Amino acid sequence: MSLFRTKAVQPPRDGHLPRVLGPVDLTLLGVGAIIGTGIFVLTGQAAAAHAGPAIVLSMVVAGLVSGLAALCYAELAAAVPVSGSAYTYGYATLGELVAWIIGWDLVLEYALGAATVAVGWSAYVVSFLADVGIHLPAVISAAPGTQVTTPDGTVVTALVNLPAILVSIAATAILVIGIRESARVNAVIVGIKVGVVLLIIGAGSRYLVPDLWTPFIPPNTGTFGEFGWSGIVRGAGVIFFAYIGFDAVSTAAQEAKHPQRDMPIGIIGSLLVCTVLYILVSGVMVALVPYQQLGVAAPMAVAMDAARERAVGTSWAGLMGLMPLIVKLGAIAGLSSTVIVQMMAQPRIFMSMGEDGLLPKWASTVHPRFRTPHVTTIITGTIVALASGFTSIGVLGELVSIGTLFAFVVVSIGVIVLRRTRPDLPRPFRAPGSPFVPALSALASLGLMAGLPWATWERLLVWMALGVVIYFGYGRRHSHLA
Ligand code: ALA
Repeated sequence: MSLFRTKAVQPPRDGHLPRVLGPVDLTLLGVGAIIGTGIFVLTGQAAAAHAGPAIVLSMVVAGLVSGLAALCYAELAAAVPVSGSAYTYGYATLGELVAWIIGWDLVLEYALGAATVAVGWSAYVVSFLADVGIHLPAVISAAPGTQVTTPDGTVVTALVNLPAILVSIAATAILVIGIRESARVNAVIVGIKVGVVLLIIGAGSRYLVPDLWTPFIPPNTGTFGEFGWSGIVRGAGVIFFAYIGFDAVSTAAQEAKHPQRDMPIGIIGSLLVCTVLYILVSGVMVALVPYQQLGVAAPMAVAMDAARERAVGTSWAGLMGLMPLIVKLGAIAGLSSTVIVQMMAQPRIFMSMGEDGLLPKWASTVHPRFRTPHVTTIITGTIVALASGFTSIGVLGELVSIGTLFAFVVVSIGVIVLRRTRPDLPRPFRAPGSPFVPALSALASLGLMAGLPWATWERLLVWMALGVVIYFGYGRRHSHLA
């Protein structure tokens, strides 16, 4: 039964991490984590292969699933404001084994997520540099073994993805130096990327071809997930990746000035902002070019190219001529803050696991001057740099989604359990309609998980099995509860 021992909900140790983040910082951290590869890459692919113009509805579905989970995260992050996030909530409600499993699972969301996005960042940087006449040698611009075609047509086998390594190192350095500094860098980057998304929406909407919106839901091809209503659901599963990140806010709970009030604001606020932007931007995109043309690596650039052609000879021609370049700049900004915030979340989870004895004690060390969990930050940075620099991790995005959805399921169930086991606990924010809304949230996340390919499930199970082995080899005996 000791596998299910729970840890009492305790206030976090104070004076340990600095309390410097306000509601605006937290919301910006959420937006920083959320807007990334998903909107700049996957939207086009989901529209082209699954939903057509109804990608807008896929956005609404994925936004609703995320919104239900966000309500649950908001309740727990305000009631249990510690850095461990879903790991700590699991420990307080479902017991140590589940907590360990969820903490281990979050490596998929945050560390693997950061590595995946770093690879996407590298692709955008290489392409942006080429546009301005700087050609990075192909041999250092992709994972080892990748065949890269150079501008003169020769095919080169890459050795290392150097830009991905560099962005991981830069993010690590910022995060070690300080949470306040990290939040400032994030705020600037978020300003740029939200500005670019608004520009895409504003400029693009002048050149819409409304006919492209019909048929809004292209008929199903006879295969599940290829257009029609099932295509909308499959599209939502693919595009869910774009919403990942609002939960990362909860790992900054010990650095928030007023976590009880501001955690719900940061979590729900950032998700709301991004949902509105996503619905608008995807609606504009599918009315600029036929959705069939969007299944490319940079769909937003394709859409802006169409708008640019329509603007030729008008007073907007100058700005529209720059749009494809501006889009790339927005994507580079977008992806960098996603890397930073995901790499902020991971070390704080490791730190909490170290404090509980499930990881060695050094994992919980905080730097005396910078007051950041520098040891786990550097470990996370090393993992992300190696994974993004030397493996073809780009294909593993679905593993990030399934890992995140699994955490959502546990957090949603955690809300229901904690309401029963600790009815007395002060809850500054309460998810409405409990237990129905949290139960619906768990089912909705399970539903999206069910839509992911079996190969992704297999990878998840292998990862979890490895985690269970480590738990029995180390954590179970070293746990402070043991
Ligand atoms: N939501 C993040 C992205 O789309 C993970 O890159």
